Amino acid sequence: MRVFITKDYEEMSERAFEIVKELVVENPYAVLGLATGTTPLGLYGRMKADHKKNGTSYRHVRTVNLDEYMGLPAVHEQSYAYFMKKNLFDGLDIDLNNTHIENGMAPSAEEECENYNRLLKMLRQDIQILGIGSNGHIAFNEPGTPFNSQTHVVELAESTIKDNARLFKDVSEVPRKAFTMGLKNIMDAKKIVVLANGANKAKAVKEAIQGNMSENVPASILQSHEDCTFICDEQAAALL
Ligand code: GLP
Repeated sequence: MRVFITKDYEEMSERAFEIVKELVVENPYAVLGLATGTTPLGLYGRMKADHKKNGTSYRHVRTVNLDEYMGLPAVHEQSYAYFMKKNLFDGLDIDLNNTHIENGMAPSAEEECENYNRLLKMLRQDIQILGIGSNGHIAFNEPGTPFNSQTHVVELAESTIKDNARLFKDVSEVPRKAFTMGLKNIMDAKKIVVLANGANKAKAVKEAIQGNMSENVPASILQSHEDCTFICDEQAAALL
């Protein structure tokens, strides 16, 4: 596991952008595993600006997203499908048919999970971008999730509901359940880049990188990935 410590959020985003751009230029058919949350917004902003300025093309790129709230349709402003369209896809020349995310409105959750697992087998991530929750979760794999888990439905931890409430009008509007790629689906990626910024991530970053590998800290599984890089700003790296 490699760890880069950057001065601030902008430098963290720039480093991540350089990695993604190099991959897409080298392989125009790359599969990008993407994340939501506020952390990757600087990366996505740079991808859009670079596409506009330099014409870097995403026409053949395929994407798979980590997770989606259960019960929110793709047109809902707080759904992750909406987030991706607004914050990334609309600013690229990507074919929306090549972008994938769990369907929060799927009539059968079980079938949706099976379908997503099948899709991930065909679209193995060349790179998986991750954020990290303040409790050490990755995607929506909350503490206690088995390391060999695949796509499943989760009950969100109270701390996650509280963390994510800032994006909703009221905490009561945050869905209690979500679809998420499992830890095994994430570990199947050829390369993983974890982004973390801000003091509220410092404890999770320390436990993920230097703690024991334990299902109590889902991100600690990344210690056993052969090509995983953490890019943390100084505040997130403060306890290392
Ligand atoms: C959310 C998402 C994760 C994300 C994390 C951190 O719950 N499911 O994929 O990495 O929380 O979010 P943020 O980047 O806003 O701190």
